[in-house]
Amino acid sequence: MEALFEPLRMGELRLANRIAMAPMTRSRADADDAPDALHVRYYSQRADAGLIIAEGTYPSVHGKGYCRTPGIATPVQIAAWDRVNASIAGQGGASRVLQLMHVGRAASRYNKPEGAETLAPSAIAAHGSLYSDSQGMVPMEVPRALETSEVAGVIDEYRQAALNARAAGFDGVELHCSSGYLPMQFLLACSNQRGDAYGGSLTRRIRFVVETLEAMAGAIGAGRVGLRICPGNPYNDMQDDDPLATYGALLDAVDPLGLAYLQVSRSPQPGLDAFALARRHFRGALILNDGFDGASAAQAIAAGQGDAVSFARHFIGNPDLVSRLRAGQPLAGFDRATLYTPGARGFTDYPVYAAAVEVQS
Ligand code: PHB
Repeated sequence: MEALFEPLRMGELRLANRIAMAPMTRSRADADDAPDALHVRYYSQRADAGLIIAEGTYPSVHGKGYCRTPGIATPVQIAAWDRVNASIAGQGGASRVLQLMHVGRAASRYNKPEGAETLAPSAIAAHGSLYSDSQGMVPMEVPRALETSEVAGVIDEYRQAALNARAAGFDGVELHCSSGYLPMQFLLACSNQRGDAYGGSLTRRIRFVVETLEAMAGAIGAGRVGLRICPGNPYNDMQDDDPLATYGALLDAVDPLGLAYLQVSRSPQPGLDAFALARRHFRGALILNDGFDGASAAQAIAAGQGDAVSFARHFIGNPDLVSRLRAGQPLAGFDRATLYTPGARGFTDYPVYAAAVEVQS
């Protein structure tokens, strides 16, 4: 287990240990799409992580697609995130990164504020549905294809969001380029049929992601910017015939930027080793994700597969995950039914180990 508890420097980020809290949509933002006192508590409870990557947060209202997800676009949202960060810092302090998540076509108008549009590289809907508070399950809608002249504006929203995140006390930001959201929609031909500089060849399909990372890095420094990928992830109706080629080319273009880290999720495609692919094409720090327990995480780090491991599910039911792993205590499960429901239940009410044992005895 010792490998998990070594400190780590990634760009400008300093981690006290190799355990990261993976970004998780929990759908509890308030009426202003801002985090509230519950988020202050939720994240502070988990402040002994080496790194907290806060939940997917929209850079502009057009990037919102699910209900009750937060933004980092208004003064109210910035002030609210600042309260979260001040509290985490006061607890001793995980490093803090905000995941910037623009869903593109993976959206419904029923989850968007007035005046927000569903925008994507091409007017191709994702087959599937998502939940809205007002309508229940609704199909994801046909997006409007961005005009060539509009793409720079979308990239600028990410640049501004990176600055806003810094103003809100985050140490950095992560570009969400997985799960069939906007950056991944540019990356793959299934959702990108553009004939301009942002579509067609693979070189053109990776351009949006590279320019967005350049804009974010230009604003706050490359050493404060991370990227998240999951090669071959079919979520939200994505299809990639050659993930090795797609992500090899992407990472070759991204590597010279000198980003703080790459967070890479295990590929669901059999036979595709996304971790090895990432190590081959990216020289910066690697955060491995998906399906680890303490022992396998420590082993992967000791073997040099990655530099840190991010946990999602284990952080839901174990606010004290770091100390449980350190002490070899058993991990609690979590309740699926309250993953995305408003309120404290299933969010801030999971007990730490000592309290859980006390209740049982
Ligand atoms: C994701 O970012 O991968 C994600 C976000 C929200 C969900 C599921 C997956 O409900």
